[in-house]
Amino acid sequence: MNENPKNGCGPIGVFDSGYGGLTILDKIRKRLPQYDYVYLGDNARAPYGTRSFEVVYEFTLEAVKALFDMGCPLVILACNTASAKALRSIQQLDLPKLDPTRRVLGVIRPTVEQVAAMSNTGHIGVFATAGTIRSESYPIELHKLDPSLSVTGEACPMWVSLVENGEADGDGADYFVRKHADRLMEADPLIDTVILGCTHYPVLENKIRASLPDSVRIVAQGDLVAESLSDYLTRHPEMETRLTQGGACRFLTTESQEKFADFGSLFLNEQITVEHFTL
Ligand code: DGL
Repeated sequence: MNENPKNGCGPIGVFDSGYGGLTILDKIRKRLPQYDYVYLGDNARAPYGTRSFEVVYEFTLEAVKALFDMGCPLVILACNTASAKALRSIQQLDLPKLDPTRRVLGVIRPTVEQVAAMSNTGHIGVFATAGTIRSESYPIELHKLDPSLSVTGEACPMWVSLVENGEADGDGADYFVRKHADRLMEADPLIDTVILGCTHYPVLENKIRASLPDSVRIVAQGDLVAESLSDYLTRHPEMETRLTQGGACRFLTTESQEKFADFGSLFLNEQITVEHFTL
Protein backbone atom coordinates (compact mmCIF):
# COMPACT_ATOMS: atom_id res chain seq x y z
CA MET A 1 0.00 0.00 0.00
CA ASN A 2 1.38 3.36 -0.97
CA GLU A 3 1.46 5.17 2.38
CA ASN A 4 3.63 8.20 2.38
CA PRO A 5 2.97 10.51 5.29
CA LYS A 6 5.74 12.84 4.03
CA ASN A 7 4.00 13.81 0.81
CA GLY A 8 0.64 14.05 2.59
CA CYS A 9 -0.83 11.14 0.64
CA GLY A 10 -2.17 7.93 2.13
CA PRO A 11 -5.10 5.60 2.69
CA ILE A 12 -8.53 6.40 4.11
CA GLY A 13 -8.64 5.56 7.82
CA VAL A 14 -11.78 3.91 9.18
CA PHE A 15 -12.21 3.66 12.93
CA ASP A 16 -14.65 1.88 15.23
CA SER A 17 -14.64 0.61 18.79
CA GLY A 18 -14.70 -2.93 17.39
CA TYR A 19 -16.27 -4.88 14.55
CA GLY A 20 -19.26 -2.63 13.86
CA GLY A 21 -17.39 -0.26 11.56
CA LEU A 22 -16.81 -3.17 9.21
CA THR A 23 -20.47 -2.81 8.15
CA ILE A 24 -19.57 0.72 7.00
CA LEU A 25 -16.16 -0.18 5.53
CA ASP A 26 -17.77 -2.96 3.49
CA LYS A 27 -20.17 -0.54 1.78
CA ILE A 28 -17.53 2.17 1.34
CA ARG A 29 -15.11 -0.26 -0.33
CA LYS A 30 -17.86 -1.52 -2.65
CA ARG A 31 -18.73 2.05 -3.62
CA LEU A 32 -15.12 3.33 -3.77
CA PRO A 33 -12.95 0.24 -4.44
CA GLN A 34 -10.09 2.18 -5.99
CA TYR A 35 -8.76 3.68 -2.74
CA ASP A 36 -6.52 2.17 -0.06
CA TYR A 37 -7.95 1.76 3.44
CA VAL A 38 -6.75 1.13 7.00
CA TYR A 39 -9.37 -0.19 9.42
CA LEU A 40 -8.69 0.17 13.13
CA GLY A 41 -10.91 -1.59 15.68
CA ASP A 42 -10.35 -0.81 19.36
CA ASN A 43 -11.76 -4.22 20.35
CA ALA A 44 -9.72 -4.33 23.55
CA ARG A 45 -11.70 -1.37 24.91
CA ALA A 46 -15.11 -2.01 23.30
CA PRO A 47 -17.90 -1.32 23.94
CA TYR A 48 -17.67 2.46 23.96
CA GLY A 49 -21.44 2.98 24.23
CA THR A 50 -21.59 2.81 28.00
CA ARG A 51 -18.52 5.00 28.57
CA SER A 52 -18.44 8.68 29.54
CA PHE A 53 -18.02 11.56 27.11
CA GLU A 54 -14.44 12.16 28.31
CA VAL A 55 -13.33 8.56 27.87
CA VAL A 56 -14.88 8.15 24.40
CA TYR A 57 -13.25 11.42 23.35
CA GLU A 58 -9.84 10.38 24.73
CA PHE A 59 -9.93 6.92 23.08
CA THR A 60 -11.19 8.28 19.77
CA LEU A 61 -8.54 11.01 19.67
CA GLU A 62 -5.84 8.39 20.27
CA ALA A 63 -7.16 6.36 17.35
CA VAL A 64 -7.35 9.40 15.04
CA LYS A 65 -3.75 10.36 15.90
CA ALA A 66 -2.60 6.79 15.21
CA LEU A 67 -4.32 6.79 11.82
CA PHE A 68 -2.78 10.19 11.02
CA ASP A 69 0.64 8.76 11.95
CA MET A 70 -0.02 5.98 9.43
CA GLY A 71 -0.46 8.66 6.80
CA CYS A 72 -4.24 8.84 6.48
CA PRO A 73 -5.28 12.30 5.19
CA LEU A 74 -8.93 11.42 5.91
CA VAL A 75 -10.41 9.44 8.81
CA ILE A 76 -14.00 8.20 9.00
CA LEU A 77 -15.36 7.59 12.50
CA ALA A 78 -17.45 4.55 11.54
CA CYS A 79 -18.93 4.60 15.03
CA ASN A 80 -21.98 6.57 16.12
CA THR A 81 -20.83 6.75 19.72
CA ALA A 82 -17.52 8.31 18.71
CA SER A 83 -19.27 10.54 16.16
CA ALA A 84 -21.73 11.70 18.83
CA LYS A 85 -19.26 12.21 21.65
CA ALA A 86 -15.90 13.04 20.08
CA LEU A 87 -16.23 14.25 16.49
CA ARG A 88 -17.08 17.88 17.14
CA SER A 89 -14.28 18.36 19.71
CA ILE A 90 -11.75 16.69 17.43
CA GLN A 91 -12.82 18.79 14.44
CA GLN A 92 -12.90 22.08 16.33
CA LEU A 93 -10.18 21.74 18.97
CA ASP A 94 -7.69 19.09 17.88
CA LEU A 95 -7.57 19.18 14.09
CA PRO A 96 -6.36 22.81 13.86
CA LYS A 97 -3.40 21.86 16.10
CA LEU A 98 -2.70 18.40 14.67
CA ASP A 99 -2.98 19.19 10.96
CA PRO A 100 -5.63 21.52 9.54
CA THR A 101 -5.33 19.94 6.09
CA ARG A 102 -6.58 16.56 7.26
CA ARG A 103 -10.22 15.68 7.82
CA VAL A 104 -12.21 13.58 10.27
CA LEU A 105 -15.79 12.76 9.28
CA GLY A 106 -18.55 10.95 11.18
CA VAL A 107 -21.60 8.86 10.35
CA ILE A 108 -24.48 10.75 11.96
CA ARG A 109 -24.72 13.75 9.64
CA PRO A 110 -24.67 11.68 6.41
CA THR A 111 -27.39 9.48 7.89
CA VAL A 112 -29.80 12.21 8.97
CA GLU A 113 -29.34 14.13 5.73
CA GLN A 114 -30.93 11.26 3.86
CA VAL A 115 -33.35 9.97 6.49
CA ALA A 116 -35.05 13.29 7.28
CA ALA A 117 -37.12 13.10 4.10
CA MET A 118 -37.89 9.37 4.21
CA SER A 119 -40.68 9.31 6.79
CA ASN A 120 -44.32 9.76 5.75
CA THR A 121 -45.63 10.16 9.29
CA GLY A 122 -42.77 12.43 10.38
CA HIS A 123 -42.13 10.04 13.28
CA ILE A 124 -38.62 8.54 13.34
CA GLY A 125 -37.15 5.99 15.75
CA VAL A 126 -33.48 5.55 16.56
CA PHE A 127 -31.84 2.44 18.02
CA ALA A 128 -28.38 3.28 19.37
CA THR A 129 -26.01 2.85 22.28
CA ALA A 130 -26.79 4.54 25.59
CA GLY A 131 -24.04 7.08 24.87
CA THR A 132 -25.44 8.06 21.48
CA ILE A 133 -28.99 8.35 22.82
CA ARG A 134 -27.85 10.40 25.82
CA SER A 135 -25.94 12.78 23.54
CA GLU A 136 -29.23 13.62 21.73
CA SER A 137 -27.19 13.87 18.53
CA TYR A 138 -29.89 12.30 16.35
CA PRO A 139 -32.79 14.53 17.45
CA ILE A 140 -30.53 17.60 17.33
CA GLU A 141 -29.26 16.88 13.82
CA LEU A 142 -32.68 15.79 12.49
CA HIS A 143 -34.36 18.91 13.90
CA LYS A 144 -31.79 21.13 12.15
CA LEU A 145 -33.15 19.71 8.90
CA ASP A 146 -36.84 19.52 9.87
CA PRO A 147 -37.97 20.88 13.26
CA SER A 148 -41.39 19.23 12.87
CA LEU A 149 -40.00 15.68 13.03
CA SER A 150 -40.80 13.60 16.09
CA VAL A 151 -37.70 11.59 17.08
CA THR A 152 -37.76 8.79 19.66
CA GLY A 153 -34.54 7.14 20.77
CA GLU A 154 -34.19 3.70 22.33
CA ALA A 155 -30.89 2.78 23.98
CA CYS A 156 -30.00 -0.88 23.45
CA PRO A 157 -27.08 -1.50 25.82
CA MET A 158 -26.81 -5.26 25.20
CA TRP A 159 -26.80 -5.30 21.43
CA VAL A 160 -23.13 -4.40 20.86
CA SER A 161 -22.02 -7.02 23.39
CA LEU A 162 -24.13 -9.66 21.63
CA VAL A 163 -22.42 -8.83 18.33
CA GLU A 164 -18.88 -8.49 19.78
CA ASN A 165 -19.26 -11.87 21.49
CA GLY A 166 -20.60 -13.79 18.50
CA GLU A 167 -24.11 -14.13 19.97
CA ALA A 168 -25.97 -12.22 17.25
CA ASP A 169 -27.72 -15.40 16.03
CA GLY A 170 -28.54 -16.78 19.48
CA ASP A 171 -31.75 -16.90 21.51
CA GLY A 172 -30.44 -14.21 23.85
CA ALA A 173 -30.32 -11.84 20.88
CA ASP A 174 -33.99 -12.64 20.08
CA TYR A 175 -34.98 -11.63 23.59
CA PHE A 176 -33.03 -8.38 23.68
CA VAL A 177 -33.99 -7.31 20.17
CA ARG A 178 -37.69 -7.94 20.79
CA LYS A 179 -37.53 -6.08 24.11
CA HIS A 180 -36.17 -2.87 22.60
CA ALA A 181 -38.27 -3.05 19.42
CA ASP A 182 -41.42 -3.34 21.55
CA ARG A 183 -40.32 -0.48 23.78
CA LEU A 184 -39.67 1.80 20.81
CA MET A 185 -43.03 1.12 19.17
CA GLU A 186 -44.88 1.49 22.49
CA ALA A 187 -43.20 4.86 23.01
CA ASP A 188 -44.43 6.06 19.61
CA PRO A 189 -46.72 3.81 17.53
CA LEU A 190 -46.62 6.35 14.65
CA ILE A 191 -42.96 5.61 13.88
CA ASP A 192 -42.58 4.50 10.26
CA THR A 193 -38.78 4.83 9.90
CA VAL A 194 -36.16 3.42 12.23
CA ILE A 195 -32.46 4.32 12.05
CA LEU A 196 -29.94 1.67 13.09
CA GLY A 197 -27.83 4.32 14.81
CA CYS A 198 -24.98 2.01 15.75
CA THR A 199 -22.71 0.40 13.20
CA HIS A 200 -22.91 -2.99 14.95
CA TYR A 201 -26.67 -3.26 14.51
CA PRO A 202 -26.87 -4.31 10.82
CA VAL A 203 -25.59 -7.68 12.06
CA LEU A 204 -28.87 -7.98 13.99
CA GLU A 205 -31.01 -6.66 11.14
CA ASN A 206 -32.94 -9.90 10.46
CA LYS A 207 -34.01 -10.12 14.08
CA ILE A 208 -34.84 -6.40 14.18
CA ARG A 209 -36.93 -6.81 10.99
CA ALA A 210 -38.85 -9.70 12.55
CA SER A 211 -39.55 -7.66 15.69
CA LEU A 212 -40.92 -4.50 14.06
CA PRO A 213 -44.20 -4.04 12.15
CA ASP A 214 -43.79 -4.70 8.39
CA SER A 215 -44.79 -1.12 7.65
CA VAL A 216 -41.71 0.25 9.43
CA ARG A 217 -38.72 0.97 7.23
CA ILE A 218 -35.34 0.07 8.71
CA VAL A 219 -32.41 2.24 7.67
CA ALA A 220 -28.84 0.94 8.00
CA GLN A 221 -26.07 3.47 7.54
CA GLY A 222 -23.48 1.76 5.32
CA ASP A 223 -24.87 2.77 1.93
CA LEU A 224 -25.73 6.28 3.14
CA VAL A 225 -22.22 6.89 4.46
CA ALA A 226 -20.62 5.44 1.31
CA GLU A 227 -22.76 7.69 -0.90
CA SER A 228 -22.00 10.72 1.21
CA LEU A 229 -18.24 10.02 1.14
CA SER A 230 -18.29 9.63 -2.62
CA ASP A 231 -20.08 12.96 -2.89
CA TYR A 232 -17.63 14.59 -0.46
CA LEU A 233 -14.63 13.46 -2.52
CA THR A 234 -16.20 14.82 -5.69
CA ARG A 235 -16.66 18.19 -3.99
CA HIS A 236 -13.17 18.15 -2.44
CA PRO A 237 -10.57 17.35 -5.11
CA GLU A 238 -7.83 18.70 -2.81
CA MET A 239 -8.57 15.72 -0.53
CA GLU A 240 -9.34 13.21 -3.25
CA THR A 241 -5.94 13.68 -4.87
CA ARG A 242 -4.23 12.88 -1.55
CA LEU A 243 -5.83 9.43 -1.33
CA THR A 244 -3.65 6.60 -2.57
CA GLN A 245 -5.26 4.25 -5.04
CA GLY A 246 -4.37 0.57 -4.99
CA GLY A 247 -7.50 -1.11 -3.64
CA ALA A 248 -5.62 -2.41 -0.58
CA CYS A 249 -7.00 -2.68 2.95
CA ARG A 250 -5.08 -3.21 6.19
CA PHE A 251 -6.94 -4.41 9.28
CA LEU A 252 -5.68 -3.49 12.74
CA THR A 253 -7.13 -4.45 16.11
CA THR A 254 -6.11 -3.63 19.66
CA GLU A 255 -7.25 -7.14 20.72
CA SER A 256 -6.44 -10.62 19.40
CA GLN A 257 -5.59 -10.55 15.70
CA GLU A 258 -6.68 -14.20 15.29
CA LYS A 259 -10.08 -13.51 16.80
CA PHE A 260 -10.53 -10.41 14.65
CA ALA A 261 -9.54 -12.33 11.51
CA ASP A 262 -12.07 -15.12 12.22
CA PHE A 263 -14.91 -12.89 13.22
CA GLY A 264 -14.18 -10.00 10.85
CA SER A 265 -14.19 -12.41 7.90
CA LEU A 266 -17.82 -13.22 8.73
CA PHE A 267 -18.77 -9.53 8.60
CA LEU A 268 -17.08 -9.04 5.25
CA ASN A 269 -17.60 -12.43 3.62
CA GLU A 270 -13.91 -12.61 2.79
CA GLN A 271 -10.78 -13.91 4.48
CA ILE A 272 -8.79 -11.08 6.03
CA THR A 273 -5.30 -10.77 7.47
CA VAL A 274 -5.14 -8.77 10.68
CA GLU A 275 -2.34 -7.04 12.58
CA HIS A 276 -2.26 -6.32 16.29
CA PHE A 277 -1.96 -2.64 17.18
CA THR A 278 -1.44 -0.95 20.53
CA LEU A 279 -3.11 2.39 21.11
N1 DGL B 1 -20.32 0.68 16.72
C1 DGL B 1 -20.42 1.76 17.60
C2 DGL B 1 -21.53 2.72 17.28
O1 DGL B 1 -21.85 2.87 16.12
C3 DGL B 1 -20.19 1.61 19.04
C4 DGL B 1 -20.49 0.44 19.78
C5 DGL B 1 -19.89 0.44 21.15
O2 DGL B 1 -18.68 0.31 21.23
O3 DGL B 1 -20.64 0.56 22.11
O4 DGL B 1 -22.07 3.35 18.15
